[in-house]
Amino acid sequence: MKEIAVLASGRGSNFQALIDAARAGYFPGAIARLITDNPDAYAIRRAKDAGIPVSVLDFSSFPGRMAYEAALLGEMEACDPDLFVLAGYMRILPSAIVRAFPGRILNIHPALLPSFPGLHAQRQAVEYGVKVSGCTVHFVDEGTDTGPIILQRCVPVEEGDDEETLAARILVEEHRVLAEAVRLFCEGRIRLVGRRVEVR
Ligand code: GAR
Repeated sequence: MKEIAVLASGRGSNFQALIDAARAGYFPGAIARLITDNPDAYAIRRAKDAGIPVSVLDFSSFPGRMAYEAALLGEMEACDPDLFVLAGYMRILPSAIVRAFPGRILNIHPALLPSFPGLHAQRQAVEYGVKVSGCTVHFVDEGTDTGPIILQRCVPVEEGDDEETLAARILVEEHRVLAEAVRLFCEGRIRLVGRRVEVR
């Protein structure tokens, strides 16, 4: 059984998908902790409802980004699970944290990387006019949304879509693909070969 810690900043629907999948026995892993930078995150309520311990590192209570990041690293080291999942965690992890947990941090991103990295990926896709978008689960490296890709799923961009309608269509796939990637990780079926991911 693998131990998983989730980092989330807001609504936490991807976190909920992992809670539900773990509960259903979909992967051999247990969610050991939620870490959040936002004391108002709805993800906190989801954790409490599921009996999952929460660490709140209120970003605004720190004197600056460096102090917050030092505290986050400390929290992550104290927790030390097999896997960290960024599920709507809206900050970039500093290199020191990425280097501390090589191959142990996954992120879900609401676009088909390497297209539309960073914030507002769904809005970027609508504005660019692509006909297909989707979501990506990848390992976190020191760039922004540049790490080795584990799984991707496509969704069509429909005529008349705006950021919200496209985001909602992508989100359905996010919940599935994130649980699937966590399953592959927990089952030891992921191998990193350079920047490519092989799934057995
Ligand atoms: C999700 O769409 C996730 O992919 C995205 O934020 C949303 C969080 O929703 N993450 C990013 O954009 C990261 N750059 P949730 O809180 O309901 O899971």
